[in-house]
Amino acid sequence: VSAFVVRTLRGEDDTTGFTSGSRDGAPAIDAYLREQALHEHHAQLCSVWIVLPRTAAASASSLCAYFTLSPLSIPLNEVVLTAIRLPETRYRSVGGYLLGRLGVSVAFQGRQLGDACVSLALGIAKAASEKTGGAFVAVDPKNDSLVRWYERLGFARLDPSRRRLVRRL
Ligand SMILES: CC(C)(COP(=O)(O)OP(=O)(O)OC[C@H]1O[C@@H](n2cnc3c(N)ncnc32)[C@H](O)[C@@H]1OP(=O)(O)O)[C@@H](O)C(=O)NCCC(=O)NCCS
Repeated sequence: VSAFVVRTLRGEDDTTGFTSGSRDGAPAIDAYLREQALHEHHAQLCSVWIVLPRTAAASASSLCAYFTLSPLSIPLNEVVLTAIRLPETRYRSVGGYLLGRLGVSVAFQGRQLGDACVSLALGIAKAASEKTGGAFVAVDPKNDSLVRWYERLGFARLDPSRRRLVRRL
């Protein structure tokens, strides 16, 4: 990751040329970056993080990847307590973060940049949790192939009928 700069999205960043491909969900990931990301970042609904090569200016062709993080609260039950290794608590819900969107430019796919983005997101969430609390990062992948990818990165599925996975911070 040292070859890259990681920072939050700014108004001057040109996101129009970013494409994460045509697989299930990818066009929506690209459209979100183009059409909604900056607005949602400014509205503090989420934070949008971008990855650029250290040597390049922030242009469409140089944007390698992006991801979003937002606060998330989930209802507590036995499954959640076990998945995030929490002792019994009197609270009804637990706070954490949602890794809402993640896309790697097709030109950079297959080189573990997606894994690196997940690690970065976990690090950012961990730093936030040390100041304001938060016990987990959750993801809602689009399909089973992506579920397996997140499982390889240490996330655990909460419920066989849903694709949500969590990882303890
Ligand atoms: C998912 C992603 C971030 C991973 O980036 P990466 O680290 O470069 O990894 P790869 O592109 O090699 O993909 C990793 C695995 O996920 C699979 N995958 C990637 N996107 C997928 C999609 N949309 N649907 C199904 N499988 C997908 C790949 O086939 C690969 O599977 P394998 O490891 O069994 O070969 C990147 O592929 C991407 O941006 N995909 C399109 C956008 C997307 O689907 N984002 C949703 C993430 S929840």
